[in-house]
Parts: sequence; C-alpha cells; structure tokens
Amino acid sequence: MTLLITNADIVNADSRYTADILCEGDSIARIDRRITPPAGAEVIDAAGRPVFPGFIDPHTHIYLPFMGTFSKDDYETGTKAALAGGTTTIFEMVCPGREMSHTEGFALWQRQAEGKACCDYSFHLGVTHFDEHSPAQLREIVAAGVQSFKIFLAYKGALGVDDLELWETLTLAKELGVVVTAHCENETLIAAMQAKLLAAGRTGPEAHHDSRPPAVEAEGVHHLCAFAGLTGATVYVVHLSCREALRTALAARERGVKVLVETLIQYLLLDKTWAERPGFEGAKYVMSPPLRDASNQAVLWNALAAGLVQTVATDHAPFDFATQKPMGKDDFTKIPNGIPAIEDRVTLLWTHGVKAGRLTPEQFVAVASTNAAKIFGLWPKKGVIQPGADADLVIWDPDYRGTITAAKQHQAVDYNAFEGMAIEGRPAVVTVRGEPVVRDGKFCGTVGRGRFLKRSTAAGR
Ligand code: URP
Ligand code: ZN
Ligand code: ZN
Repeated sequence: MTLLITNADIVNADSRYTADILCEGDSIARIDRRITPPAGAEVIDAAGRPVFPGFIDPHTHIYLPFMGTFSKDDYETGTKAALAGGTTTIFEMVCPGREMSHTEGFALWQRQAEGKACCDYSFHLGVTHFDEHSPAQLREIVAAGVQSFKIFLAYKGALGVDDLELWETLTLAKELGVVVTAHCENETLIAAMQAKLLAAGRTGPEAHHDSRPPAVEAEGVHHLCAFAGLTGATVYVVHLSCREALRTALAARERGVKVLVETLIQYLLLDKTWAERPGFEGAKYVMSPPLRDASNQAVLWNALAAGLVQTVATDHAPFDFATQKPMGKDDFTKIPNGIPAIEDRVTLLWTHGVKAGRLTPEQFVAVASTNAAKIFGLWPKKGVIQPGADADLVIWDPDYRGTITAAKQHQAVDYNAFEGMAIEGRPAVVTVRGEPVVRDGKFCGTVGRGRFLKRSTAAGR
C-alpha cells in the first residue's frame, strides 16, 4: 500500500524537523517538505504532531517456561499490547531449559511466534548450557540471523551457566562478533541469602529484595565484565536496577571493557516499597533484580540523559496475580519472577521522561528505539525515520490524557503494575512496514503479519 503522512514533526535520535513522509510498500520512499499524494494513497495528516520511529523493546518474554509455570501472553496478545503502546519491534529471549538443545529451543520459539506475531520480532539466543554440541549449533543459529546471545548468571540449576560455560560463550561470541546480553546476579549469594531469610521466618514477598541486595547485582556485573575484558567480547547488562551495579559497569567501561547497559521502565518508576505492600499484594512486584530503594531512580534517569545507560526495556514477564504468583504464597523464592510492562513502557517514558523534563524528545527516541537498533544490528532499517528505512512510525497524540488500568489492557495478565498512573500522550496511529496497525489505541492490523528479523551485522554499534 501507499501511505502519505503529511505535516509530521519528525523526531529522530539526532534530528527534528517538519516534513511529509511517503511510504511505499514496507519502506519509507521519500521525505520532503511537501509531497503530492500519489493516486490511491491513504493520507494521514499528522497536523504538526510528533512522529517517532517505531519503538523497540530489546528485552521481552512472551513465551517463557519459568519457575514451574509459563508467562501468560502469547505472541498475539503480547505483540498487540506492544503495538498499542507504540512498540513495533520486540526482542524475545529464547530460554531453553538445560535439557533442551539450542537448536530445539530456537525452533520452539520460532513456532510460538509464527502466524501470531503482529509486530516484527527478533531473538536473543539464551545459552543456558555449553557442551560439545553447542559451538556448531550456536554458529548455525547466528547464521540464521540471531546475532546476540543471552546468558543468566542467576537461576542456579535452571537457566544459569557456570563460569566455564560463560567463558566458552563469550569466547565464541567474540569470534562471531555477536553481543552477549546478560542477567547479572551472583547465584551462590542468592541461594545462601534465600535460605537464611526463610530460616528466619521471612517468607513473604517483601523478603525478595533482601535475598538479592544491590551487592549481589554489582557482583554479577563485575563477574561478567571480568570475563568480557579477558575474552574481548561485547556485553550488554540487561535490567540494571541500581547505582552499585551501574558504578561497576562504568568502572569496567572506563578500563576498556565493551559493556552496554539496559534499564527498565519498572526501575525508573517503581521502588521496593511496592513489593512490601500488605498481604500478598507485593507479589505483583516481585522480579529480579528486585525493585530498589527509590533513591536509585534519579541515578538511572541521570544516566540515561547522560548517555551512560543505552536503553529502556521492559523485561515483560507476565504472571497472573490470582493463579500464578500464589505459587509462592508461603515461600517468596517460589513466586514467579516478573512484572509485565510491554504495553506501557513508551507512554510512561514519555510522561515521566519527556514531560517531566528529564529527557529531550530526541533522547527519548534514542533510549526507546534507536540505540537498541544500533546495538543489535537492526539500524538503519529500524530505529530511524529516513528513506530506505522500514515504515514503522508512531504518530503521537501529545494531548491525550489517560490512566493506566488492567481493565483496558491488551496484555493477557490479570493486573497492571502501573494501575492508576496517569499518562500524558499516547500513539494516535502506529504503522508497521507501511500498514496502520493501531488507531487511537485500537489494534487494526493483521494477526501473523509480524516478521522474524534476520540480522546480519551490528552495523551501527
Ligand atoms: O524477574 C524477572 N526478571 N523475570 C524474567 C526473567 C528474567 O530474569 O529476565
Ligand atoms: Zn533476567
Ligand atoms: Zn528477562
């Protein structure tokens, strides 16, 4: 189809100007001050409102077998939710258990997405073990377009790897030129502290934080960076939550380690008191690393504005409050870890970042779209509005005022961690490769049109 967006206030990570955008088929064909509508084109007047490149969530779990259960969304509900909030590309963590080969895991996650995904998607391949079969399998998966790995230093005996496996993974990643994303927490410390807290009768969700204090995360970051420095691999710390872990990453960067950092919208807006709510309510806010003391939020906002933290993701991991979180009713270590956020990341980041004066609109685009595209090899197809790029566009309604509520969400989970929070602005129209898929908060796209993005090199890194 042909789509012309007129009078757009185009906001890229490094530029802002007013023009018309002509989309032909999947791509942006032309950008000019005035473009005459071609015959048969749909014309949308942006009326001077901001138009952003489609937002990218670099860390999601749509399909996640985890802690004895499965995350609640499937690719249809999860990607509809993403799109409603302006996210047009997601990265999903492929997380095969230790008993499953990486090849089987990759195929399983592909099957979950095919025919259901409504937005484009890519994978980080979870390297959850490293044996004699792994190098050949990993090479094959990288060649198939998955140019990044994921490793867990936490989750002992499940998804976590040992030090030799970490070394082998980073060594191979360096050779192949792929980024290794990493969950950084020291699993031995966690197990010891969990046992100590349970023995002292601390069984509720509020104990989760104390089982994984900032030092546990900082140690994980230090551990990863030591291995990255010695192998020369590029690493990306996922869901960094606190000043101690940030200082550790920045110290490593200063001595030459190639380390990039992601934080989450949850850590920017929620703090550990949410997980201390009375009764079992706090279980809604149990995730790892845990929500932190509120003083960390200013540190993370400042680090984003200063370019020290590269991305804001969600680590979307939805588990129902009524039926799944209670698996840990009498033992906080059994509460499925995760806080859903895929639908609300962008509107909350706009409201609390741009509207609150913490980020410029250009910085907002950088941390919510462009930087992820560059780090993971999607740029300049994604993450920028320019001729030749995919026509993934978000026409923004800055005048919209609303309140977040689970009652209206697309996410297939029975609560919303941001319930009752006000948002100031939302997508008016969202397009994926030239097709409008959301209008005024309603999905109007085609289920299954989302494409697996085969990545080649991390061109912009
Ligand atoms: O608590 C979390 N973060 N759950 C999802 C799995 C992970 O560690 O990313
Ligand atoms: Zn994690
Ligand atoms: Zn995750």
